[in-house]
Amino acid sequence: MGALDACEHTRLRAVVSSGFSPAILKAFEPVVRATATRLLEPLASLPEFDLVSQFASPYCLAVTLQFLGIPTETHDRCEQRLEQGLGSMQHGGSGGPGLLRAYAEELRECEPFARDLIAQRLAAPAPDLISHMLHERPGGHRLSTNEVIAQIPALITAGHLSPAQALASVVGHQLCSPGGWHEVAVGSVPIPQLVEEGLRADGPIIGTYRTARNEVTVAGRNLPAGTRLLLLYGSANHDERKFRQSDWFAPRRQPQTSHLAFGRGAHACVGATLARLELRVALEEMAARLPTLTLVSETVSVHRPAFPQRSLTALWVRPGTCPPQRAPVDGAGSPSDVDGCPVY
Ligand code: HEM
Repeated sequence: MGALDACEHTRLRAVVSSGFSPAILKAFEPVVRATATRLLEPLASLPEFDLVSQFASPYCLAVTLQFLGIPTETHDRCEQRLEQGLGSMQHGGSGGPGLLRAYAEELRECEPFARDLIAQRLAAPAPDLISHMLHERPGGHRLSTNEVIAQIPALITAGHLSPAQALASVVGHQLCSPGGWHEVAVGSVPIPQLVEEGLRADGPIIGTYRTARNEVTVAGRNLPAGTRLLLLYGSANHDERKFRQSDWFAPRRQPQTSHLAFGRGAHACVGATLARLELRVALEEMAARLPTLTLVSETVSVHRPAFPQRSLTALWVRPGTCPPQRAPVDGAGSPSDVDGCPVY
């Protein structure tokens, strides 16, 4: 969907986006919460664990697969494919065409499985996104089997990776803040604000590529048709004309939601409402079940080399109490009007 232009994009997007309506998400919230609690329960008794691989990633994958309606018994296989896909993005330069070809082959192998699942949902719709895409007709159009097949891998990838990366990032930043996790546990930092500031300050997608279809003028510069552009959302989110002390993670700052972490315009993230739901629920359950969470070490700023994604490779945390949090980077004090920590 991200690569299509109007009118095809408009038609397809109308169906997919109607599957993320407030009513659908409200009905889905108990599944999200049950997934969070199931995964968090065993972690609370461990001396320490990696938040990325032991919670954020499996949680967001399980939520996405359940939202789409992918049967539980195939979730492990989906996880392997995602790892392979991420590997091909990381090694796009060095591993090159071989890795991409292997990933493409894997995707092709998914097709019979997707076709079979779609046949089942056509015969008997379930309360999931795949059924929704097959049966709903906003504007009088519904999607064909082939169109739904094409959406499934893209939705699984987009739906799983970015929220997992965002969750690890926001927890990492809050743990590095002077108030630490305690502020979240006692509710002095509202969780929706924490989510928005995490997305603004260190969102999981730094930018996206575009090609100008027609000649266009942007900020006084004339761009001929065919110009390749890189829209840097991550940079816009640190624009000091918009956000004071923009390089500080400060969950109490205002305004909260005017960032570009989800893009903007015709292609703005279709899953933003689901992403916000999963982030909020995960943080609520973490605050309740892991109230004394702390960082194990300072090795929080190792990111995967997978531009334009920004994702921590690991975030080791300790559920029990431990020594005080590290001070802000380079001993820098918090600016007087910002209550937070520098973005690493
Ligand atoms: C924190 C989590 C997420 C972030 C930060 C994020 C960010 C983005 C961004 C920056 C774009 C591109 C916007 C543009 O091209 O201007 C995008 C597009 C998209 N996202 Fe997300 N996303 C997240 C979660 C999700 C989820 C949960 C889903 C679905 C389950 C999803 C599905 C999509 C799809 C299908 C598109 C393409 C939309 C279109 O081209 O019309 N995303 N997202």
